[in-house]
Amino acid sequence: MKDFQKLDNFLDFGWAQISRGKADKKSPAKHPTFVTSNADGFPNARTLVMRRSDRKKNQIEFHTDTASSKMFALKENPCAGIHIWLPKVQLQIQMDVVVEVKVGDITIPNWRNVPTNSRVAYGTIPSPGKVIGSPLAYDYVPDQKRFAVLVCDIQSIQLLLLGAKHIRAYYKKTTNWQGEWLSP
Ligand SMILES: Cc1cc2nc3c(=O)[nH]c(=O)nc-3n(C[C@H](O)[C@H](O)[C@H](O)COP(=O)(O)O)c2cc1C
Repeated sequence: MKDFQKLDNFLDFGWAQISRGKADKKSPAKHPTFVTSNADGFPNARTLVMRRSDRKKNQIEFHTDTASSKMFALKENPCAGIHIWLPKVQLQIQMDVVVEVKVGDITIPNWRNVPTNSRVAYGTIPSPGKVIGSPLAYDYVPDQKRFAVLVCDIQSIQLLLLGAKHIRAYYKKTTNWQGEWLSP
């Protein structure tokens, strides 16, 4: 088990794992759980592919269909949660984020980088989550106008490292990621 005595080193370790979400196809950080709040009070969690992470900008990026329910939830409340569990290194990462939703022409450069066979994820008819009469009663109609880029501005990062003795720390943007140790 790694022995972290310094908050900065622990955060570096956390970011190294987050960065693998884009760089390493096998890393569980590629598939974070993205959590929004619903108007009915229940949180809504789903798996998304991490498309980009940027420590300098404190950002993580996802892509989604503009007609999916998370878009309506984010319109009501742009605050969301991200959760990643990395079993190999026994690290849990939790992040609070504020989401900027980009749609329309501004996303065309991103859309150009989406492989043709992956574009089917944006434009399903009927819209994602709508009731259908049988399992395959839908069509894929790839449509750039149904493509949304979710730019997540990270507000806080919480790390929990499991070991003989667990280590937990909390870092906030408002204190310039200085961090503080927490009892696990
Ligand atoms: C491994 C995996 C990766 C996924 N990646 C994405 C993704 O990148 N973007 C996306 O919108 N949905 C993705 N999904 C589907 C979502 O989990 C979810 O079912 C869909 O976005 C509809 O969510 P919503 O109705 O809560 O908005 C993925 C699902 C799995 C299992």
